[in-house]
Amino acid sequence: MSTWANLGLQDSASPLMEQLIFFHDHALLILVMITVLVGYLMFMLFFNNYVNRFLLHGQLIELIWTILPAIILLFIALPSLRLLYLLDEINEPSVTLKSIGHQWYWSYEYSAFNNIEFDSYMIPTNELSTDGFRLLDVHNRIVLPMNSQIRILVTAADVIHSWTIPALGVKVDGTPGRLNQTNFFINRPGLFYGRCSESCGANHSFMPIVIESAPVNYFIKWISSNNS
Ligand code: CUA
Repeated sequence: MSTWANLGLQDSASPLMEQLIFFHDHALLILVMITVLVGYLMFMLFFNNYVNRFLLHGQLIELIWTILPAIILLFIALPSLRLLYLLDEINEPSVTLKSIGHQWYWSYEYSAFNNIEFDSYMIPTNELSTDGFRLLDVHNRIVLPMNSQIRILVTAADVIHSWTIPALGVKVDGTPGRLNQTNFFINRPGLFYGRCSESCGANHSFMPIVIESAPVNYFIKWISSNNS
């Protein structure tokens, strides 16, 4: 999760988020180079003494400053497209979790595991334990196995919500009447926090998501203790 004075992206917990961070840094570097160049040119314009009274056209410079930005944009467009298709790839998931957005909580279904289903409400501040995170912790956490391909199906029961986990690079809208799909791979154990990121009404800010990433045998233990 994001902690104090964290202005950048959170540390990644999945290979896709790692790629997203690489792409972010790459795009930012190109942005800085363009800003510095254009800033320098604009600044130097103030000290320009040349006057071209009879200048009407400059075919060559027009050609250069049209084609050059197009080539620079390709260096952003191609990696972006690569990442877009990489995020959409489904790699034989071993667990499928369905998350349903409600006003204002999430409910979850493990359809392949005896259809375990439960609601996941935020813990109100006055009920929070001393080690709990305000506005971020929930009553019922999702448990998922680490080092496994996980498929997430997202939908909603009332209005549009968005299932968003920054550390995993996941952000999928839950829309009533539709079923959206994404997948990820958690590469370390721990707690991963997320929240709804689609303005869904009065308590939009109070429907967080908590994933408990655990080793596979722990996950199996958890899922079978819920089966009885
Ligand atoms: Cu649900 Cu915002």
